[in-house]
Amino acid sequence: MATPAPSKKVILSGIQPTNRLTLGNYLGAIKNWVKLQKDFHCHYMAVDLHAYTVRQDPEALRNNTYTAIAIYIASGIDLEHCTLFVQSHIPQHAQLAWLLNCNGYMGELSRMTQYKDKSSKAGANIPVGLFTYPLLMAADILLYDTHLVPVGDDQKQHVELTRDLAQRMNGLYGDDTFVVPEPYIPPVAARVMDLLSPTNKMSKSAVNENGSIFLTDSPTDIEKKFKRAETDSGKEIRHDRQNKPGVSNLIDIQAAITGESIAAIEARYDGKMYGHLKVETAEIVKQELGPIQKHAQELLADKTELDRILKQGAEKARAKAEVTLRRVHERIGFIMS
Ligand code: TYM
Repeated sequence: MATPAPSKKVILSGIQPTNRLTLGNYLGAIKNWVKLQKDFHCHYMAVDLHAYTVRQDPEALRNNTYTAIAIYIASGIDLEHCTLFVQSHIPQHAQLAWLLNCNGYMGELSRMTQYKDKSSKAGANIPVGLFTYPLLMAADILLYDTHLVPVGDDQKQHVELTRDLAQRMNGLYGDDTFVVPEPYIPPVAARVMDLLSPTNKMSKSAVNENGSIFLTDSPTDIEKKFKRAETDSGKEIRHDRQNKPGVSNLIDIQAAITGESIAAIEARYDGKMYGHLKVETAEIVKQELGPIQKHAQELLADKTELDRILKQGAEKARAKAEVTLRRVHERIGFIMS
């Protein structure tokens, strides 16, 4: 039997601790995690197994993982409401991923946009993990009987694959084998764009770092990057993603942080110049990130405490993951230990 439905629905999400996290990760994911945390049973993790699909420097991976966790807490993730953990601390993720590997199809994985994009940059030897990565993500989600997955727009396809897999296996092993999850895509800033090439997504691994705002950027860097942000040859400050992607991106960033509507922001900038929009967007971002950076630094100064938090999170997560994995093993026909 699937675990009885909890009084609150379940949320799970994660970020790869590769390089430094960006404003895209913050607005597309973390800020919404915080908003949703009181109304759901939330599970938030640093997905280090996913990060390993691309070669990582061991020291940098360790530091980036601690920093990601510190940023989650500093952004307002409340340990009373959320289970916070590191993916590799829960062996069941890799175990369930194997079972999903035996149920996912080559064709559907080949269609994943992110695989096509990343593999085209990987050179001659494409790691198999890059191909099967969405199945590990599906395992992350299905292990916790997740109802809702808050992610940016770029991860929607992976959540849809997870739904397909859950339904396929429910067809084989019974309807209550897996909860079929839904994506939760934020209404604004679901795809924060690169500041220098605003038709591309802002990314941790952009070739030109000046196009990405990293959550650890200094106030001076934030100002400089916004000042250089690509706009267009017009003058009007208007939200029009098709024809004015750079200006629309800055408006979206403001809207996602302040909660102001797009129309209100447009009205506020009536008759003003692009320079005003850039300077004020930088200011809003600095105000938002300043306290988070300060708190994250304090947390990072005490790794023993972070380790304690992660141990506690791992214990809670492992207990739940084990129940789901045993249920699936039993249904598949493995002898139970
Ligand atoms: P990752 O690490 O690429 O991104 C983490 C989260 O940030 C969102 N995001 C963005 N949102 C808006 N604008 C952007 N420019 C932007 N860039 C990134 C992503 O949509 C994501 O929500 N496979 C996932 C991590 C993962 C996961 C999971 C997520 C692994 N297991 C289970 C949810 C549930 C990834 O690589 O995200």
